[in-house]
Amino acid sequence: MRPNFFYHIHPPSIPAKQARWRYTLGAGGIAVFLVLVLMVSGMLEMFYYVPTPGDAALSIQTLSYRVPFGGLVRNLHFWAAQFFVIAIAVHLFRVVLTGGYAPPRRFNYLLGLALLVLAILLDFTGYILRWDQGIQWALVVGTNLVKSIPWIGDYLYRILIGGDYPGLATLTRFYTWHIYGLMLPAAVLIVWHIFRVRRDGGIAIPPPHLRTERNRISREDLVRQEVTAMLLCSSFLLLFAIFVPAPIAPAITNIEAVSSDATAPWFFVWIQQMLKWGNPFVWGVLAPVIILAVIGLIPYVFPQPAPRELGRWLPPSNRLAQIVLVIIAMVILLLTLWGLRPIA
Ligand code: HEM
Repeated sequence: MRPNFFYHIHPPSIPAKQARWRYTLGAGGIAVFLVLVLMVSGMLEMFYYVPTPGDAALSIQTLSYRVPFGGLVRNLHFWAAQFFVIAIAVHLFRVVLTGGYAPPRRFNYLLGLALLVLAILLDFTGYILRWDQGIQWALVVGTNLVKSIPWIGDYLYRILIGGDYPGLATLTRFYTWHIYGLMLPAAVLIVWHIFRVRRDGGIAIPPPHLRTERNRISREDLVRQEVTAMLLCSSFLLLFAIFVPAPIAPAITNIEAVSSDATAPWFFVWIQQMLKWGNPFVWGVLAPVIILAVIGLIPYVFPQPAPRELGRWLPPSNRLAQIVLVIIAMVILLLTLWGLRPIA
């Protein structure tokens, strides 16, 4: 094979351990693939989507039901976005439960965490672009959380929605955030994150003098594995997009009559549940920020993974970080299941 661009992504060979599915779960690579699907499908959607309150929901219905393959493109975009958030969460789990964040990978861990936040905000802003009656919680309660921040809340709220109340400017703001304000920084961070994986020496495994296994696989074999994963993911995503339509509800016709009783998007249901406990700033802003800060501090304040234990699941040396992450995940999961339970 002639040397080409892809030679910059992988070294000529890597330790076999770094490439094992059962070690990485392929979640980081799947997230990269889903970003590509999101960019292409999002760009195609832009040809038909009309970002004005009067036309947005209608333009999505036109795209879904009248444009050839429009429904498929929209479903692909919607489901790729949901699987993207899930893939990153799984990847974060893998990184913490294998101690893959140990130095020199601490900075890349923070880049990754920033990407998780950006992915959730992208999902949230994309969800608002539907401008149908299903997004009312996000539009009313979700944005009001910003207002609850002491001193600067009102100011931030006006920047976010373009006025004192959700109105004509709000959709333009969310559209711009979705496509430029969040997607561009996310694209830069993804490239930086992947570059850092290579610069930090690939996926974490014990240093050469502590290794028991010496097998290596070639760059060509690695690319073969990646292409197989991509084909499997594409088939799954395509089948999902063909058979499970993305949600759409009747358009919001009167912005002043928007109510807050609809449910939150699935990734914020745990926050919606916590808001029932009282103060919106404490439960809707402070608690999530504290959780994020604890996850961000894992490589800095928790006991470090021992170099000889890298490259395997559940190394005993970073047990505390594993326990903390699992507890956080269980709380979020239980709150989400509680919020999604059918009401009799
Ligand atoms: C858009 C989101 C993300 C993408 C596209 C992405 C992509 C990747 C890829 C392709 C790898 C190498 C293969 C693998 O480990 O699966 C990787 C490794 C890594 N990622 Fe991410 N990642 C993302 C989010 C995150 C998050 C949320 C974290 C943690 C907070 C994180 C931390 C790391 C670390 C520390 C490594 C090196 C792991 C090791 O050496 O064992 N990444 N990432």
